[in-house]
Amino acid sequence: MSKRTIQIGLCGLGTVGQGVWRHFNRMREELEGRLGTKVVLARASVRDLKKARGVKVAASKLTTDPLSIATDPSIDIVCELMGGTTVAREVTLAALSRGKIVISANKALICAHGAEIFAAARKGGGHFLFEASVAGGIPLIKAIREGLVANRFPRIYGILNGTCNYILTKMEELDTPYASVLKEAKRLGYAEAQESLDVEGWDTAHKASVLAWLAHGVWVRPEQMIVEGIERITPADFKNAAALGYGIKLLGIITRDFETDEIVVRVHPTLLPEGSVLAQVSGVFNAISVTGDVVGTTVYIGRGAGQDATASAVISDIADAVSLLLHGKGAHLMGEEGPTVPKGVRLAPPERIRGRYYVRLTVADLPGVLARVATIMARNKMSIASVIQSPSEEAGLASLVLTTHESDERSMRRALRALAGLSSVRQKPLLLRIGDLGD
Ligand code: NAP
Ligand code: HSE
Repeated sequence: MSKRTIQIGLCGLGTVGQGVWRHFNRMREELEGRLGTKVVLARASVRDLKKARGVKVAASKLTTDPLSIATDPSIDIVCELMGGTTVAREVTLAALSRGKIVISANKALICAHGAEIFAAARKGGGHFLFEASVAGGIPLIKAIREGLVANRFPRIYGILNGTCNYILTKMEELDTPYASVLKEAKRLGYAEAQESLDVEGWDTAHKASVLAWLAHGVWVRPEQMIVEGIERITPADFKNAAALGYGIKLLGIITRDFETDEIVVRVHPTLLPEGSVLAQVSGVFNAISVTGDVVGTTVYIGRGAGQDATASAVISDIADAVSLLLHGKGAHLMGEEGPTVPKGVRLAPPERIRGRYYVRLTVADLPGVLARVATIMARNKMSIASVIQSPSEEAGLASLVLTTHESDERSMRRALRALAGLSSVRQKPLLLRIGDLGD
């Protein structure tokens, strides 16, 4: 056993921070045995010292100033578990510039400031570890960076947000609107402090951005992606999807065509064939399908959010960090810069994003309406595959669900704008994509 005692500071003692505190201390002796050194959770920061917490922390260890932890010379490893992109960024950069190891669960921060953070780590001689930032307890970052290092990745896609998967599962099972399920997801500690990040798809976009960087070495910002959330999905959409043989999942999808060197990163609710592996993944679980050109397709499933799953990932980074400090080992095979950015790689334009679509329209239940809808689809070269008409809850209105044959994003968006402009279409159309992704 090394004589050195490694000191860890936790910036943030909320859902994730308390999980790390509890599980690390419960496992401490065993972890120390495995790591060959003493490791202590020496300090923690919070916003409100008076708040009741599920773990006991001596008052002498607590502060309201996270920067004081990041700059404390006795602290070797800083875990940034606060969230947000302002104080979290300052804390991260301050620690990295002092050569410390920073562990983060903060995908919003990495997506917004990843390039700056990795540059700061390189300059300051620190390291930035982020296993908990994507897919909760699933060791997906390690899988892509280390286990699959022999591969290039034409396709990575999956369920990346536990809150949304929990909400969609409950909506389908209980036939209940999303707002009532969201409360439960918050109570269970799955949702972001700002819940719109989850339900509007931004959290999935942040994670997709991290994965795109890991796999392809490029930072794709959410504004450059298609990002659609789950807020407008209703229990009726699950019934329509089931009638067509599909379930509905919010997916993050990253594809790269190595011939044209075009990348597409998108986030949207997707109709998945009922028998596919991902369609069966329910509740807070995440599931990610990673296709490598050497290995073929691999699939990873596990809890994607919540205190325990996320603590598991943070503690795995703590173990890597201790190993780095003691031996310089545990360094990631691809380095912390990500893969070399290939020259010429660019985002694919909408006309080259192809797929099949599900469109739900709430229309006046009058003669000629279906014909007008069909005309607009035809004018935009959208070929209709099926139509389901059912009565709407409102008298005089009907719900019209169209599915299409394969087309492209540009044509579909044009058609959608034209449909929304029809006087007989009474609500903003809902667009879902049909995923023929395989597993
Ligand atoms: P949380 O429950 O809201 O906890 C945040 C903690 O940080 C609290 O202890 C809070 O203090 C403290 N804090 C927040 N802003 C601060 C500031 N400006 N200055 C000082 N302290 C501040 O959040 P969480 O769910 O643990 O999430 C933390 C991070 O992990 C986020 O980046 C999130 O995206 C990520 N993450 C969460 C999960 C999950 O399942 N929850 C999973 C993976 C990743 P008080 O306690 O005094 O309010
Ligand atoms: N709010 C996020 C989710 C936390 O529900 O997936 C895990 O990153």
